[in-house]
Amino acid sequence: MHNIPFSPPRVDDRTVEAVTEVLRSGWITTGPKTAQFETELAEYIGVDKVLALNSWTNACELVLRWFGVGEGDEVILPAYTYAATANIVMHVGATPVLVDSLPDHCHIDPHAIAEAVTERTKVIMPVDIGGMPVDYDGIWSVINEKKSLFRPNSTEQEKLGRILFLSDAAHSFGATYKGKQIGQQADISGYSFHAVKNLTTAEGGALAFNLQNKEDNEELYRRLRISALHGQTKDALSKTDGNWRYDIIEAGFKCNMTDIQAAMGLVELGRYDETLACRKSICERYDEAFEDGPFIIPPQQDADCETSYHLYQLRLRNGSERDRDALIEALREQGISSNVHFQPLPLLSFYKEQGYHMSDYPNAWKAYENEISLPVWYGMTREMVARVSRAVQELWKG
Ligand SMILES: Cc1ncc(COP(=O)(O)O)c(C=O)c1O
Repeated sequence: MHNIPFSPPRVDDRTVEAVTEVLRSGWITTGPKTAQFETELAEYIGVDKVLALNSWTNACELVLRWFGVGEGDEVILPAYTYAATANIVMHVGATPVLVDSLPDHCHIDPHAIAEAVTERTKVIMPVDIGGMPVDYDGIWSVINEKKSLFRPNSTEQEKLGRILFLSDAAHSFGATYKGKQIGQQADISGYSFHAVKNLTTAEGGALAFNLQNKEDNEELYRRLRISALHGQTKDALSKTDGNWRYDIIEAGFKCNMTDIQAAMGLVELGRYDETLACRKSICERYDEAFEDGPFIIPPQQDADCETSYHLYQLRLRNGSERDRDALIEALREQGISSNVHFQPLPLLSFYKEQGYHMSDYPNAWKAYENEISLPVWYGMTREMVARVSRAVQELWKG
């Protein structure tokens, strides 16, 4: 029997042709394909501007730096997330303030956010874990209620006059909240196009700008594009044809997207609705298989929102961490890959050393200890879904 991988990328002849075309074109770094990808992403999301970069991590770190977040500042984020969310806060010298999840859920709890806001809070960065949107309205209410606590210490903070809402939408490209795309909810949303994501460019990421004024979004796009290229006022393409002189206006970074990546992204984006429909039907088949057993099936939809079906996060009713780990191993022995999303940050050595304790995040622990992410990918057949479902049912009796 063939092995069932966890999340192979959707790569086929169309991807290969698109990448080959760029390789043969004579222009392989940031250029026309990246510009086209940004335009099509902005249209898909329904925002003024999108900036495509080489990862979520670098994209969102640029945002923190632009907003002037640094030493003495606090950024609120969930304890239950991947390390990237907190690492970028460490990179800029600020303090990640970890808050607990909702009861029986892996999503951040808006009440816990409200309790964590102080005069030092500069950014709130929730995570749409697995692709399911967080309570965006609940978080906006906290930001508005706490406005009088906000103490700006940069020009951008003065201008905004409140906490910045930066969404970690690494998993939720294509998810909707109240009928609109996720990128239309927070001030800025960061997507990841890493190899295991629904839409991949091998590595990659993008920022969707959703500030109130169109001009601010245009300006932020222009500004961060420069920051992503050493602070250089012209990119490589616009320096061709003798147009060589440029200026450096800051000690910027180097995290632009290449046209090779963008070519992959354009193919993926052109067929993304099909990808989402396929992922949805896999998740629905899992739901049917697990609804009557000793399982907690993941929320995928409610009156307000629909997930991007990035992860199928099944939970084993009354299961312990050890039971879950044993199940992963037993599945592996049958050639089925599964995963865990995520180990909450206070379980990881570095964050333990920073003084975070898992016992302060009981809901995050509960959501983690019995969680197992099952394979979901475009091209996964009915038979494969049935085989995974059967194996889990046989191995976990509760
Ligand atoms: C929740 C979350 N945020 C951020 C990231 C970082 O994305 P990237 O690898 O594109 O930097 C990931 C990556 O897996 C993630 O899962």
